[in-house]
Amino acid sequence: AIPVITIDGPTASGKGTVAQRVADKLGFYYLDSGALYRLTALSAIRHQASLSDEHALSKVAEHLDCSFVGGDVFLAKENVTDAIRKEEIGNTASKIAALPGVRHALVGLQLRFRMAPGLVADGRDMGTVIFPSAILKVFLTASAEARAERRYKQLIGKGFSANMADLLKDLQERDARDANRSVAPLKPAEGAYILDTSNMTADQAVEQVLSWYAS
Ligand code: CDP
Repeated sequence: AIPVITIDGPTASGKGTVAQRVADKLGFYYLDSGALYRLTALSAIRHQASLSDEHALSKVAEHLDCSFVGGDVFLAKENVTDAIRKEEIGNTASKIAALPGVRHALVGLQLRFRMAPGLVADGRDMGTVIFPSAILKVFLTASAEARAERRYKQLIGKGFSANMADLLKDLQERDARDANRSVAPLKPAEGAYILDTSNMTADQAVEQVLSWYAS
């Protein structure tokens, strides 16, 4: 079977960076499942779909015209790599991700990322729902303060404006929404290794994941 490593965790826990580096080291494919929810959010806004219309949003997710080319993300030929990283899109993504129809519509697309020689999948439910048979499951976390600081640096680095107090508040709201929703709530998968990265560099986290994979 094609090996899958799942890396799940709360917002701004550093999953993306860690998952991508682990994939690079192993020569595996990388699935940023959060990007699919962000793309659905952006596409819904572009189509002026109502954010309370689950049926319409599920259709948007089902017909998502997206592609991933070397670190860039495209929505219907438009490069939206930076556009989907805005906080507004992240917040909308987190709201529509609570809708069962939207999650269901994105399952097939996610499964198709499992290709030889292997896949590193990052998200909230990679180990619990999408790839329950993964060979290695990691739950990556960090304190809310450490995560707010990381998100702050990430946004400023992209030239967006950001404010620590607002970020911390948004992050706590998003944590609560991800943990309390009725479908695929955020929690460590059965058999997952828990990695608290509050006092770790990304490289240290990568080394830990690689050593679990090797053992
Ligand atoms: O930056 P952040 O970690 O918040 O976001 P992300 O990983 O890009 O995902 C955006 C949103 O999609 C999250 O807030 C989650 O609510 C949702 N999501 C999800 O429900 N399931 C996944 N597998 C991935 C993301």
